[in-house]
This record gives sequence, structure tokens and C-alpha cells, in this order.
Amino acid sequence: MNHLEEIRAKLAIEEVVGGYIQLKKAGRNLKGLCPFHNDSRPSFTVSPEKGIAYCFACNTGGDIFKFIQLIENVEFPEAVRILAQRANVPLPEFKPEAHNKRLQIIEMNRSSAKFFSEQLQDSDKHKKYFLDRGLSEETIQKFKLGYAPDSYHALKDNLEKIGYKENDLINSGLLNQRSIADKNTYDRFRNRYIFPIYDHQDNPVGFGGRIIDEGEPKYLNSPDTPAYNKSLILYGLNFGKNAVKKEDLAVFVEGYMDVIAAHQAGTENVIATSGTALTAPQLKLIKRYTPNVAFAFDQDAAGLEATKRSIELAQEAELNIKIVTVPEGKDPDECIKKSPEKWIEAIKNAVPAMDFYFSYALKQYDKNTLDGKKGILNLILPLIKQHQTEMEQNQYLERLALELKTDIKLLWNDLKNFNIKKTYSQAKQETDQVPVRQIFSREEFLLGFIFHKPDLYNLVQENLIDSIPFDTRTEKFYKACRKVYNRLSTIDLGELKKELEPDDHEKLQIYPLLIEEHYPDFGDDAMEREVINLIRTINKTNLHNVQKEYEFKIRAAKDAGEKTLLLNQYNQILKLTTKIN
Ligand code: UTP
Ligand code: MN
Repeated sequence: MNHLEEIRAKLAIEEVVGGYIQLKKAGRNLKGLCPFHNDSRPSFTVSPEKGIAYCFACNTGGDIFKFIQLIENVEFPEAVRILAQRANVPLPEFKPEAHNKRLQIIEMNRSSAKFFSEQLQDSDKHKKYFLDRGLSEETIQKFKLGYAPDSYHALKDNLEKIGYKENDLINSGLLNQRSIADKNTYDRFRNRYIFPIYDHQDNPVGFGGRIIDEGEPKYLNSPDTPAYNKSLILYGLNFGKNAVKKEDLAVFVEGYMDVIAAHQAGTENVIATSGTALTAPQLKLIKRYTPNVAFAFDQDAAGLEATKRSIELAQEAELNIKIVTVPEGKDPDECIKKSPEKWIEAIKNAVPAMDFYFSYALKQYDKNTLDGKKGILNLILPLIKQHQTEMEQNQYLERLALELKTDIKLLWNDLKNFNIKKTYSQAKQETDQVPVRQIFSREEFLLGFIFHKPDLYNLVQENLIDSIPFDTRTEKFYKACRKVYNRLSTIDLGELKKELEPDDHEKLQIYPLLIEEHYPDFGDDAMEREVINLIRTINKTNLHNVQKEYEFKIRAAKDAGEKTLLLNQYNQILKLTTKIN
């Protein structure tokens, strides 16, 4: 048994999934609320027998490894590591270089965080800084806040004493080299307050260091390293992920202190980027936990710009967006210091993005001048145009007419004349039905039956015209079935697997689970009847399509001989159609 099989044997899928969501028994399977979309009724099915968990509403899931990859947002090797640890299965010693480097940096950071924290705890003067900013002793400990002494080698000495090599310390960003010529090293973080940055799995991957008084940069951050990729990390998510799931909302703020103050105030679903603007991968990460985001950025010009950019990114990521207006102070931290209640209230009162754009436009332009009015229209009209119903559009136009003191009829004209290039996501939103729910095709259901009970393939072989339906998504499965059947006169799932690409293997379990979902109490006879019905409908649709194709070809044919030939073939198809009806 290799280690993957050993892990699989030791960890039941229902236990792994049950560690994240509540499951209830439902026949031979278990069900729970899907953690991968905004689920209102339990759509997440766990099959102990098949060893998979899958949601047929959002089409997400797989075996224990896939599930961990999805829910922890990690790559396969990391998922294996997590599960190996839970199953107490030792992994083979060999690890790729990069992985080793990453782990080593994390360990160096852990030691450094401990060092910085001790420095802070030893100095009343520096500890007072955080206490004065309103943080409790408990919060300081929880976020491992620290102080980097005013020295060029305090940290270096400490880490070298533990046994770390200078070269490795340079790679971790904890030490700087003076220059290419002068290879002497010195501590990167000196005389700064230290905010350790954790990834969502609780690994210390980097640091932010705040200047004591005034100066530049205000926050010095670790450079990107094999352990720290700024565009992937969300500060506070390690402490906040459960709250994000529970509240079904992630509130984004700008700064480290905003996150910490918010958590102390009891709003733990608050996170921040660290030293970058919001990125698409960060939104992808948060989407694992919730489809709902709120932006609570600073109330200054930079904050407004950040909000606008973030809304656009979040729209691309198909998240639901709200905007929090911080009622006091320049940022959430200041607001919370004055009044935690007002902050909590502000999150509750978050408004849709459109409301934000109205106040943004009115702040940017003077609505009393002609140029100002034009600026406002240029900003708002394309956004109004995105709304699908005239009722919604009218509602916003009314509001605009009121603000600009103009006639709504004129605005309707402007709106109609306003041509905008649709972004990809806008065009997609219009064609997609909301909520997005993939409908499985008859061809997929039929495969489900075959994989569930391979004997049923005899019916396909006998009754399905041509035995391969017209469906690009499933064609390869039918071809594989035919191949195996021709060879063995029966369908063997192991043999079928060999005919398919590895990426398609999971369908061999997902399709039959679909059948268990939809036909929980079907006996053999009922299944046969259902398969016959499916085949009949697929035949009909296929013939109908072929018929239409011929009608088109016949109309298009110029040559009389060709036309006759096509008509003959067409009549054959019609005969077949009447026969199966
Ligand atoms: P701000 O300048 O708004 O600072 O930067 P702040 O969070 O309010 O800090 P305090 O309250 O004065 O201590 C917001 C965030 O942008 C990043 C940091 O993550 C900071 O928390 N930042 C800012 C940097 O990475 N480097 C900088 O030089 C400044
Ligand atoms: Mn601040």
C-alpha cells in the first residue's frame, strides 16, 4: 500500500468532511450545507461507499484530497501533508527543495516572532504603545505583536544561536546584505513594532514592521520569499476563517491595526491585504469561505479609489459586494477605538455597490456645474446600464434626476444612447441564470446509470441509435464504453478507467452519485424503465437534430442530383423517427 492509499484507508470521507460541516444521514449517504457556495438547503452529498463528497448545485467536490484542496485552498501536496498528519501516516522523507525552503523560512519566522514578542513583553515602554492604542494584553498575545530592538544584529545573533545559517536568514528576508560588494548582513527590522503575518493555515510567513514615530516607510514588510507571496495572503484569515464562514461575509479593511481592532471588538470576519492592493487570487481564496464580501476602506481619497478598484475585481470574481461606510475616524481602527458599537452597526448597514458609486460620483464632481454633471453621468450611466430591468434602471435614474435637478426623460435618452463595451463578467452575468446551477444532461444521467449498474449498458447497446449520442461533453465516455464492450461484451469499470484520461476518472464516481441523488429508492425494474425512457428521448433529440441539419442542407443544395440524394437520406431519417415515436 502506498501512503496515499494508506491515508485513504484510515480517514473516512464523512469524518474529514464532518470536521468542517455538519452532516446528517440521508439514506446510504450523508448530507450537509455545501461549503463552496451559498447553500440554503443541504446540497452537499457525502458518499462513504464511494469515498467522495460532491455538491450537485455548484459542481464542486471529490475525494478526501480534493476536498481538502478545495476547503483549505491548498495544492495537492499540501493536502496530502495535512491528511497524512491527521491519519498519522508517515510521509516519505524526500521533499523537493522549494518545499524544504518554505518550511525552513516558516520555522525561522516562528523563532523570530517569539524573539520579537519577548522583546515587547520585556519593555513596558513599548508595550504601552499597543495598550495606548486600545489593545488588550490578550489581543497582543493572540496576534503575537512584538518589538524589534534598535540594533543591527540582535535578531541575527539570536537566530544564529539557535543554529540557523546566515545564508538561509538572508533568503527569509530577515537579514539584509549591505550591498553586492559588501556581503555583511544586518537585521531588516530595527526599532519597529512587529506584526507577524500568518497564512490561513497559521504559518508565520512574513512580517510587517511599523515605524515607532513618523517616517518612511510607515510599514516595512518582508520581501516575497518561497513562504510569503503578498498577493496570496490575507492578514487575519487564520483567526477569522470560521467567523467568515459563520457570518457568510468577509469584511476587507486596509490595515493590520484595523484587523486587530476589529477582532478585539468581536467582528472576527475582518481581514486585510498586507502591503498590496487587493488581488484576484486573494478573492479566489476568500470565495472558498463565502461568496459575500464587504469593503470597509479608509474614508480618504486613496480609500475611495481602492474601493472602486476592488469592486471591479470582485465583480470579475462574481462575488456579492457591499460597502461599509466607516462612521468615525479615518479608518476602522480609529472608529473602533471611539466606539466599537458604531463599527458593528456600520457593518450591518453596509450598502450595495451602486449606493457607493452615487456618493463617490457626487464627491468627485460638482453637481452644480455642467462639467460636473457630465462627469457624474459618465461614471454612473454605464453602471445603471448594467442593471437588467427597466424598473431598476428607472429607480436609479430617478435618483440621478433628483441629484442633478434634471428631467428623468432626458436621462432615459442619455442611457439609451450610452454605448458601453461590456466587460466579460457583465456579459456573462446576463447570459447566466442566477443562481448558477449546472443542469446535467440526459447523456450524463444515462452515463450515471451505466456506471452505477454496468449491466444496463446492454440496453444502450441495443437501443441507442449509433450508441454514441451527439453530445461533446460526454462523447469520450460513450466511445470508451463502446470500446470496452466490443472487447469484453460487458462494461468493466476498471477497464473503462484505462480508456479515459486521469482528469475524467472522477466522473466515474460523480455520475453514479447523481443517480443515487435523484433516484434514491429505485429498484432494478424502475431503473431499466428509466434508462429506456432516457434512451428514447436522446434518440428523438438526436434524430431531430439530424433532421434539421438535412433540411438545411437540402435548402442549400444547388445541384439537382445532390438534392435528390439528400432527400432520400432525409426520408430514411423520417421513417426512423416515426418508428421510434
Ligand atoms: P495606512 O497608512 O492606512 O496605515 O496603511 P494604518 O493601517 O492606518 O496604520 P496605523 O493605524 O497608523 O498604524 C494601511 C496598510 O497598508 C500597508 C499596511 O498593511 C498598512 O496596515 N502599508 C502601509 C504598507 O505595507 N507599507 C506602508 O508603508 C504603508
Ligand atoms: Mn490606522
